[in-house]
Amino acid sequence: MIESFKLRNVEFNNRILVASGTFGYGDEVPDLVDISQLGGIMTKSLSMKPRDGNPNPRITETASGMLNSIGLANIGVHKFISDKLPTLKKHDTKVIANIAASSVEEYCSVLELLDAQEGVHGFEINVSCPNVKEGGLSFGTDVTLVTRITKELRQRTNKPLIIKLTPNVTHISEFARACEAEGADAVSVINTVIGMAVNIHKRTPKIATTTGGLSGPAVKPIALAKVYETVNAVKIPVIGIGGIVTWEDAVEFFIVGASMVQIGTANFINPSTGITIAHGVKEFCEKNGMDNVGSLVKTLQTNRTISIVDSWL
Ligand code: SIN
Repeated sequence: MIESFKLRNVEFNNRILVASGTFGYGDEVPDLVDISQLGGIMTKSLSMKPRDGNPNPRITETASGMLNSIGLANIGVHKFISDKLPTLKKHDTKVIANIAASSVEEYCSVLELLDAQEGVHGFEINVSCPNVKEGGLSFGTDVTLVTRITKELRQRTNKPLIIKLTPNVTHISEFARACEAEGADAVSVINTVIGMAVNIHKRTPKIATTTGGLSGPAVKPIALAKVYETVNAVKIPVIGIGGIVTWEDAVEFFIVGASMVQIGTANFINPSTGITIAHGVKEFCEKNGMDNVGSLVKTLQTNRTISIVDSWL
């Protein structure tokens, strides 16, 4: 049974990753979580300087979901390299540094610093955070900027380059195509969906920034549709993310066409979720006579004539 997956020049133990912002820097999870059973860890987004993020409250629960407005709080790339990476790189898993920035130049500088680090195996570029004024969605909804960022970063690294896309656009496939054309190795689909929750007694938003990013099971059908649209538009691998809690959820994403998946919000309930899912997917494949998870990818049986997404492609 082959579970590993190669992206550019990096071989991942399996196709299950943990999503940025839901696993810290790998040092906040209990010792009983065997990180080596994960394909890889996407770090919390890293910027050049440390960021405090948005004011509290910045997380609230919603029906089947979580609304966050963290605002890219992080320790900054220098402290990550000096304080976190030495421990992180002891684990037998791949470390993908997620980078957020408020200018193209900042993306480039942070990537260059991290590219020189042996324990950083690749990059996921966050052009899709809905909770900041500069960078984030203002970049991720502008295909010219996404094109430019991908092009600049590609010139600066030979490690896997993954662009994390927002669902808060009309046609995500347009953005995925731009990333592919500029040499990205994969796209992560999707980041959070813009959402809102109201305290009816105070008549105030439940989070300080009024709107935030919705994640968790509530967004899974949206994520599946965006993955479906993307895999039918590009040849590079699509990494599915959005509301995956069980191995059955992950199997859905693989069938639709995701080559890898990320576990996000579920880690806040149980940081071992990714490991349970890795075992569940493997068993499902074995029981169904498949000798590798790849045999499951893009095996959706569908009457394509009835999908609205197809008319966008
Ligand atoms: C945040 O830090 O606000 C969340 C990260 C993201 O949505 O990209």
